[in-house]
Amino acid sequence: MKPIIVINFKTYKQGEAAIKLAKAVEKVDKNIIVGVQASDIYEIAKTTKLKVYAQHVEYFWPGRHTGYVLPEAVKKDGAIGTFLNHSEHKLSFKILKKTIKRCREAGLKVLVFASSLKEAKKISKLKPDYLVYEPPELVGGKISVSKAKPELIEKIAKKIKMPFLVGAGIHSSKDFKKALELGSSGIAVSSSICKAKNPEKKLRMLLKT
Ligand code: G3P
Repeated sequence: MKPIIVINFKTYKQGEAAIKLAKAVEKVDKNIIVGVQASDIYEIAKTTKLKVYAQHVEYFWPGRHTGYVLPEAVKKDGAIGTFLNHSEHKLSFKILKKTIKRCREAGLKVLVFASSLKEAKKISKLKPDYLVYEPPELVGGKISVSKAKPELIEKIAKKIKMPFLVGAGIHSSKDFKKALELGSSGIAVSSSICKAKNPEKKLRMLLKT
């Protein structure tokens, strides 16, 4: 099966720059999942064929919730799914459960991040569409999860009864290949692509297997 690739735009790029980045990603592979800021969903979903995800949504129902973004809103703007529980936007398990339920009702796919094996096990029981293991201390750094935590990735592959992706510090095709060899079904990346001078070239190099 083709590896699943997730690119988290975080807040590295917005507006015109985020659209430009999305178009560069699309040139490499339109099946890539991109997590973009809520304000960029509509434009990126309209101008590319990428799988556009929100980076977070609330579990609230439409009504009196000034300043929050709901599952219906991102769906209407063209998102097919949302990220939840990223280490930079952590949720309690109770809220995560409620939000996943709300997303399902709204017809959104959910990609849930886990920071440890223990959390991954718990989250897998909620049956998200995607589960991504990312050790928070490696996020945004130069050392990849595949290099720093090989035993843990293998352990997750043994203990978790669903496919999973890994992310944090992934910069090279070596990191990517290693993540797959250790049992993951794909990778989540951010800084190496979002901060690259030439994101298309960097992405092509990274995905070379
Ligand atoms: O969601 C992916 C992200 O947290 C990994 O970030 O910059 O280490 O690739 P980065």
